[in-house]
Amino acid sequence: CGIVGYIGERQAQQVLLHGLEKLEYRGYDSAGIAVFDGQTIRVKKKLGRLANLENTLNGHGLPGVLGIGHTRWATHGRPSDANAHPHGDCTGRFVVVHNGIIENYLRLRQELQQAGHKFRSETDTEVVAHLVESLYDGDLLRTVFKAAAKLRGAYALVVMSAEEPGRLVAVRKHSPLVVGLGDGENFVASDIPALLHYTRDVYVLEEGEVADITAKAVRCYRLDGTPVSKEVLKVTWDVDAAEKGGYEHFMLKEIYEQPKAVADTLTGRLSDDNRAVLPELDWALGMARGIDRIHVVACGTAYHAGMVGRQILERLTRIPVEVEVASEYRYRDPIYTDHTLVLVISQSGETADTLAALREAKARGARVVAVTNVVGSSVAREADDVIITWAGPEIAVASTKAYTTQLVALYLFACYLAQLRGAADPATIEEVLAGLRDLPDAVSKVLDTAPAMKAFAQQFARKESAFFIGRGLDYVAALEGALKLKEISYIHAEAYAAGELKHGTLALIAEGVPVIALATQDHLYEKTVSNIKEVKARDAHVLALTWTGDEEMASVADEVLYLPRVSPWLAPAVVAVPLQLLAYYAAVERGNDVDKPRNLAKSVTVE
Ligand code: G6P
Repeated sequence: CGIVGYIGERQAQQVLLHGLEKLEYRGYDSAGIAVFDGQTIRVKKKLGRLANLENTLNGHGLPGVLGIGHTRWATHGRPSDANAHPHGDCTGRFVVVHNGIIENYLRLRQELQQAGHKFRSETDTEVVAHLVESLYDGDLLRTVFKAAAKLRGAYALVVMSAEEPGRLVAVRKHSPLVVGLGDGENFVASDIPALLHYTRDVYVLEEGEVADITAKAVRCYRLDGTPVSKEVLKVTWDVDAAEKGGYEHFMLKEIYEQPKAVADTLTGRLSDDNRAVLPELDWALGMARGIDRIHVVACGTAYHAGMVGRQILERLTRIPVEVEVASEYRYRDPIYTDHTLVLVISQSGETADTLAALREAKARGARVVAVTNVVGSSVAREADDVIITWAGPEIAVASTKAYTTQLVALYLFACYLAQLRGAADPATIEEVLAGLRDLPDAVSKVLDTAPAMKAFAQQFARKESAFFIGRGLDYVAALEGALKLKEISYIHAEAYAAGELKHGTLALIAEGVPVIALATQDHLYEKTVSNIKEVKARDAHVLALTWTGDEEMASVADEVLYLPRVSPWLAPAVVAVPLQLLAYYAAVERGNDVDKPRNLAKSVTVE
């Protein structure tokens, strides 16, 4: 979900709607704003996209210079007008917006109902408004401290009151919030893009901090009331970086940003004497040598990056690596040695499942390294070490540049660890490091496949299902390719280890079924070709992706897409690009909302 708050001299409605637009990718099943008009707080909220709310406000705007707004991704209570935020108490004097989950809301709701409070929604959030009203003692800040003491769970809250129209009170507990500092005006939001149009000076609230925001000042406290002094963070992103820059969709823009994102992620991390340099780790030799097991934990696309990471880590360090989706990992009672390293990967750094796994690992005494794209995110703050992917803000729900930069970070980390420990396989390290130097170039060249992928996607878009096959790292690349296609085109896609197809799935291959076959792993090439022949024999329509210079494939597959050659170890980063383009053009062809696919959210902050 997304939160925005404003206090100052401008019309709050405009600021709120502008900010919400920038945050809509965080959740978009309903939206609402509340503005104090000088006498009372007026609330407008609407099911559906922000545009619905904007239409309702057209000609019936809410005047006032103090307000809060929200875009929602439903957790408690289905998407509806009533369940949309902001939520108020019975008197309408206290209004709140909230991200996250109040775990004990049912008990609180019952208590409040017994005391006479009437509820209008099914949400956990509404409880907060009633609770604040019931505890109000003439000072909103003090009341929020008292209310927070009764709330369990993970949340970010912004509260306003008609009793004290000169302030907003914001609380951060396990859900991000930033305060934007203006001149005679101040802002609060769940994410920086909402503020960039107005200010570049922000306070990032830490875990358990509260901000008391007036037009003239922002004071921060810990939840126990002790004041904290914050440092101003200067945001250096240009506004353009968070906008579409001429492309039809954020996803396409982000696909095309990959050469730069990959290069940025490599900057300063490859030394002249061919070593991976990660100054942010600065590990002691003994520590690095002691690691005897690695758990890689992530969700979605980041999980696929982790699967690539496992193969390269095992090859270069010979440390056994397990990789698991975060939502399963935590509940499996994983086995830790005294020297287990846990590697979490998360673009947003806010994914609840990943964060829970990270906390479990820490509680069990493991050292945690995070790979994330968001500086100051929860994952970044709670991990022992952080490797940032410099992909810049990723807006499209389907992850593209975050994925390729995660791969880069993992290759670097594997080389770093292997070199520190005394390399088991110096030749492969050298191959990977040399390949990384050339990777931005290769990724840039592979973007030239766009017209071919577009043409293929146009005939392919009418199909109901598709298969992606490959062996070794091509299998992992296939998983990611299939995920991308499912996410945005809604074509059912399955990825199969090419050698496993004959053990069941081959039954689904019939005339004209599209099969995307990946053949970048030289040592598995002949075997993969045999598997392609198996599906060809069942009349599948095969598009094969292989290296430029492959003379055999044209006689095996129906169509061949040639890729600029890189080390097979780095192939997943190159293959990803045409598969992203395939998914993108198929989704466009089908008329889907590419950047905001149905049912999905960019940052999933609930388990
Ligand atoms: C959501 C997104 C996916 C993403 C996953 C993990 O489900 O829709 O695209 O891969 O979360 O996100 P993270 O921010 O942790 O990488």
